[in-house]
This record gives sequence, structure tokens and C-alpha cells, in this order.
Amino acid sequence: MNRLDRAAAFERAAAVLRENDRGAYTIPTKGLYPFQWNWDSCLTALGLRHLDEARAWQEVETLLAHQWPDGMVPHIVFHVDDDGYFPGPSVWRTGRPVPTSGITQPPVLAFVMKRLHDEAGDKELARRKAHGLLAKADAWHRWFYACRDPEGTGLVAIIHPWESGRDNSIDWDEAMMRVPTDGVEPYERRDTKHVVAAQRPHKADYDRFLWLLQRFRDLGWDNARLHDASPFRVVDPGFNAILIRSDSDLADLAQTLGEPEIAARARARVAKARTAFEGLWSDAFGQYLCLDRVSNQLVDSPSIGGLLPVFAGLGDETHQRSIAGRIEAWRKRTRFGVASHDPADRRFESKRYWRGPVWIIVNMLIADGLRRCNLADAAAKVEAGSLALIEESGFAEYYDPISGEGLGGGHFTWTAAMVAELVKRAA
Ligand code: GLC
Repeated sequence: MNRLDRAAAFERAAAVLRENDRGAYTIPTKGLYPFQWNWDSCLTALGLRHLDEARAWQEVETLLAHQWPDGMVPHIVFHVDDDGYFPGPSVWRTGRPVPTSGITQPPVLAFVMKRLHDEAGDKELARRKAHGLLAKADAWHRWFYACRDPEGTGLVAIIHPWESGRDNSIDWDEAMMRVPTDGVEPYERRDTKHVVAAQRPHKADYDRFLWLLQRFRDLGWDNARLHDASPFRVVDPGFNAILIRSDSDLADLAQTLGEPEIAARARARVAKARTAFEGLWSDAFGQYLCLDRVSNQLVDSPSIGGLLPVFAGLGDETHQRSIAGRIEAWRKRTRFGVASHDPADRRFESKRYWRGPVWIIVNMLIADGLRRCNLADAAAKVEAGSLALIEESGFAEYYDPISGEGLGGGHFTWTAAMVAELVKRAA
């Protein structure tokens, strides 16, 4: 993209961010997702900072204002009523003053806080805002290891596919077979009113998503009990890599801001997690895999979750180069971006949500990771692939990696935020 095209891309991205701005938070897109989502909001702040730094801090502050007393930051905050989305607050019934869901999402928060702080124009504002959020981020990270790693293995499990942010990934298929569907209350999906069904999860997935939700609700959303009570407990390398990167960014930020105790706690968590992490490596696949915590087996599913560990600089040089090689091999089978699943896998579907399509946010986390691992050429290719998709199909929720077609919701906030970040940071 030349300079002029980049300027135009930024203006278009900024227009999407403004369109979805609801004052103190941003919705992912109109219709399909009318509330505040956790990792969407944090990543959106990276785009917003190029329009208004104070507004970017506000985005994450609003999210954290709804943190639970136990430390969890919920995956959705239902600021308003809207029956265009299912399941809404009357299904979750978490009892929070402003209704929220009862599960969490990938903790990109501290990674975002560090970047907002380190690259701020208004340094004083950044110091004040970041300092005010440190203890909250630390509480969330402590919650993860206390509630999602009760045996102290060093790695956390997700207990619902929605927590991964990759809702219907092939990674969960096996573990989801263990989730029953009896007793699921009758329901009507709303997602397929906004997006064609072939681009969304199957009904069999939704039944199980809801069974898990009802199970946790029956246990009063008591996080001390949910992990062991869930038939779905998966250690996702992508999710853990995000937590490890955020924890190490939290440590650096806390050190800079004069909070050595928070820094020391975060460093200790990172050290333990890094050691445990190598147990997720697969020589056969040349990448990391999920661990099913119920069967204690690695899951034969080569997804983008197993490439994300570069984001935290995990593995040795051989592992990191192997991941770069995987990305190259996947790219040879597609035309655009890094797919969400290995295109050579017979289960790959180029249009179905997290079972193949390209998601620009994950591409950007991977590109950031490749640079961190001194693989700048590979990173530049991933970034160029993301911009090519925008030129081809605008700001979609996700894209078909073979045709480049935009899929899911349109005018999508975090896609726009990543483009704003990409073109401004490179400038
Ligand atoms: C879908 C995605 C999830 C995202 C949400 C809002 O559920 O899988 O990652 O946070 O939509 O955009």
C-alpha cells in the first residue's frame, strides 16, 4: 500500500470506529453484537488511540468497571437492552449490577495497556491511567491461575469455547463431544438472522454452548467450583500465550510505574507458565497443540491457536522458525492472510467462522510475535496480507482465505482498529 492508500485506509477505519462508538465503549458491529465485548474492546483501544488517547483509555476503563469481585473480567457487558443478540442477560443471570456474561475472554488487556502507555503522546495522562489500572489487571491474572489452574500446573484451562474467542474452532470438537445436550432450555438463535448460517457455528455447537452456560448458572457462577465441574476443560496454547505475554507486559509496566510487588508477582507467574508451556509442543505437527485437561491428551488439531505462542516469544529458535514455516505452508494453499486453521486439514472450512477464515486481529498478534522473535520478514508478509484483504473486501468480521470474500458482520470495529494501528504505527 502506498502512502496515499494508507491515509485513505486510515480514514475509512476511523469512520468505522466512530460509527460503532457508544460514548464510553464501542460495540463490535451493529445488529450482530450490540454490547461491549472484552477482547474486542481492548484491541479497539489500540485503534482509538490514533483518534483520541483519552477515549482509548476510557474504552478499557469502562470494561474494567465491570470486573467481578473475584477478579474475573467478563466476556460481555450488557450496557443496554437489545434482543438482537442471544443469549442475553436473562439467560446468563449472573446477578451483576450491570448485567454481564459469566465467563471470560483472552486477556489482551495488559498488552494493550503497555502499548498505550509506552507509545503515548500525552505521557502524563498515560502514567496516571495505566497506574490506575495495574491492580485490576493483576487481580484478573491472579484469578486465572487460582480458578482456571486449581492444581497449579502453570497453565490455565478454558471451560467454555466462547472463552477462547475462537468459538467453534476444530480444536474443541473432541472435548465438545463430552458435553451433553439434554436439558437445554428451548431457545431461538439470533446470529443467523444477521449472517447466513453457513458462516456461523452449527446448532449442535450452540446446544453445547448453552448446556455449559446452564451448568455454570446452576452452580451460581461460583468460580471456585466451575473448573472442576465442567466437562469441557481445554488448555489452549493461544489463550495461554496471550496471558503470558500480557503478564510479562504487566510486569514491565508495573516496574516502570513503581509497583515492584505487582511486577514480582507477574514475573513469577510468567516463569512458571513458560516452563509448563513446552509440554504443548508437537514435533509431528511442528507447532503447539491444545491439551484436553479431562483426557490429558494433546488434541490433533493444527489451528492458529498453536501458532500464537510467538506472540509471547515462547519456544526456542527452532520452534519459532518451525511456526514461521507453518505459516508459509498455510499461505501457499490460500491467497490471503493466515487462515484460522491448517488449510491442509480435511476438516478445514474456508467460510465457517473459526474453522478456516482469516481473522485480522489474530493475524496482527502473530505479526507482532514474529517481530518479537526476529522474524521481521515473515511478519511483514502477514501484515501485507491483512491490508490486501481490506483493499479487497473492506472491514469485515472475517474473510475467506481462498477467495478474499468478507464474511460475518460488516463495518467491524476490531478489524478497523487493527488497520488504524497498522498504518499509523508503520508511518
Ligand atoms: C465472536 C468471536 C469473539 C468476539 C465476538 C465479538 O463471538 O468469536 O472472539 O469477541 O464475536 O466480536
